[in-house]
Amino acid sequence: MCGIVGYIGNSAAAPLLLEGLAKLEYRGYDSAGIALVGKPSEKIKAEKPDGCDIVSATPGAKANQGVIEIYKSKGRLSILSEKIRGGADLTANVGIGHTRWATHGKPSDENSHPHRSASGLFAVVHNGIIENYAALKAKLINEGVEFVSETDTEVIAHLLEKNYNGDFLGAARAAVSQLQGSYALGILCAEHPDEIIAVRNSSPLVVGLTDNGNVIASDIPAILAHTRRVIQLSDNEMVRLRKDSVEVYDSSGFPINKKEILVDWDVSSAERGGYDHFMIKEIMEQPQALAATISPRIGADGSIVLDGINLTAKQLAGFRRICIVACGSAYHTGVVGKYVMEKLTRLPVEVDVASEFRYRDPLIDKDTLVIIVSQSGETADTIAALREAKNRGARVLSIVNVVGSTIASESDDVLYTWAGPEISVATTKAYSTQLTMLYIIAFYIAHKLGRIDDRDLRRLLSALNRLPDMVAGILRQAPDIKRISQRYAYLEHAYFIGRNLDYAVALEASLKLKEVSYIHSEAYPAGELKHGTISLIEEGTFVVALACCDKLFEKTMSNIKEVKARGAEVMVVTTDDRRDVISEVDQIIYIPKTNDLLMPSLEVVPMQLLGYYISLARKCDIDKPRNLAKSVTVE
Ligand code: G6P
Repeated sequence: MCGIVGYIGNSAAAPLLLEGLAKLEYRGYDSAGIALVGKPSEKIKAEKPDGCDIVSATPGAKANQGVIEIYKSKGRLSILSEKIRGGADLTANVGIGHTRWATHGKPSDENSHPHRSASGLFAVVHNGIIENYAALKAKLINEGVEFVSETDTEVIAHLLEKNYNGDFLGAARAAVSQLQGSYALGILCAEHPDEIIAVRNSSPLVVGLTDNGNVIASDIPAILAHTRRVIQLSDNEMVRLRKDSVEVYDSSGFPINKKEILVDWDVSSAERGGYDHFMIKEIMEQPQALAATISPRIGADGSIVLDGINLTAKQLAGFRRICIVACGSAYHTGVVGKYVMEKLTRLPVEVDVASEFRYRDPLIDKDTLVIIVSQSGETADTIAALREAKNRGARVLSIVNVVGSTIASESDDVLYTWAGPEISVATTKAYSTQLTMLYIIAFYIAHKLGRIDDRDLRRLLSALNRLPDMVAGILRQAPDIKRISQRYAYLEHAYFIGRNLDYAVALEASLKLKEVSYIHSEAYPAGELKHGTISLIEEGTFVVALACCDKLFEKTMSNIKEVKARGAEVMVVTTDDRRDVISEVDQIIYIPKTNDLLMPSLEVVPMQLLGYYISLARKCDIDKPRNLAKSVTVE
């Protein structure tokens, strides 16, 4: 999704904006642009490159009035950067930047952000969707405004100008009050060249505080190289940045004090650090991410310590059901969570994708514990599902990776996954740590409700504690999986099958492959194949069977034989005590055995590697798969 950055300070803004946008590339985008504002005396440009828009300020301007210059281009950020020579000749100290993921209007120079108002007095960058833009646009056209782009964003630039009478903040407030939908905005005004105004509503935006000025960005990795001091804006909050001050206002325009958060991610965690792609780096970081998520939750006496949970045993006993809601891979962790939680807590557990949950009039009330899972904490559908759950009186516990994100701040209880920043669009370490948190919650509830005793708990926690080392062991098989993967570079279709928890992992394994390699892939409960999908199995069809679930192993083997009999090329992932399978299948990946309930944490790892290495062999743009975004902040 779109990425926003902004800088105001003592340094030249353009190189910093380009650097920040580069850090946001992983979010997915199709064009890029920056706008700079400077006093005329600081004349900014060297020459006017193609696709760039340099605007003098409104006629009759005041003495301190600035000039806004916009440089934007369809395509990769590197194209823009080349056009403006990395910003080398641009000396302005104030600017905003944007990577666009097209929603309204095709990717083009004109539709790229920043957008400007008719006279060039305002420039704006926007992440989100303005739902009432058509009505606003019609009204503006009626009033004589000419539009140059097909975007919803351009209406904001014109509204700013229409509502301006010298008061920048007032114009921003008046313009925003007419918008419906989701937006994070960064705004420049030529008459206020020493200010940036930003606002958010249902789209992420953070403010970073540095010793050399202040910044805004859609996501923390964009500012990590400069600061770890962050203010997370909440919905409808507006902020005025000057180079040495940050003022935050609530939705009624009253100044408010926001807490500064110190982010403990280090810069190197958002760098590729010698790896070819973030995806493989993050796969390899899983042992540390798991250990960081698990160890603080196990006390010296062997009990579970849940820092962010305020639920008593009495409250837990009051819940009649649990509902897990999330999107994408986070939803897949919920599918594992359902099996594990029902088994251990004996409470009914439902799992739903957020975009369905929010519109299906869900049967939840104060006796329901809703568990929201999200890496970014900013996924639009998941936020809406959370709000729906709270409106219906449910208790909301969230599992989130980004501290202070919207989901974290709106939930009753929050448990953080300590995975560090995840940059690759295809999630790996966040998935694994989310899974771990769901295990810990399941153990915690089951123990508090007396469904498992102290001995069971100790046994489960000790198995959980061994996961980081076991995952490290599986990762050592990466060269073998890479070699096997070469063979499957030219696949057109793939099927992932499994039963019970193996099926839950098959969902994620299939998604991993399809999202980065563009191979059509489906996950199926192995026992369900014969009700339709088996008709697609023919000579050479690639089937990956996950067969780690001990008690269902023989049943899965029968399904493997069924597809083999129809000519499928079968790869099996199973535990290393199953040596007898070798003769039955074409490829086999062995993983160590642990408690049955925890097997998903291990079996997903070779599947992540398979997805990565097949995509590598197909020369895909692994960290930025087409049409996908890391953080999906629109419906
Ligand atoms: C996108 C990402 C997925 C992620 C999903 C939910 O589709 O590509 O990797 O699982 O969003 O994101 P969240 O931040 O809520 O976990």
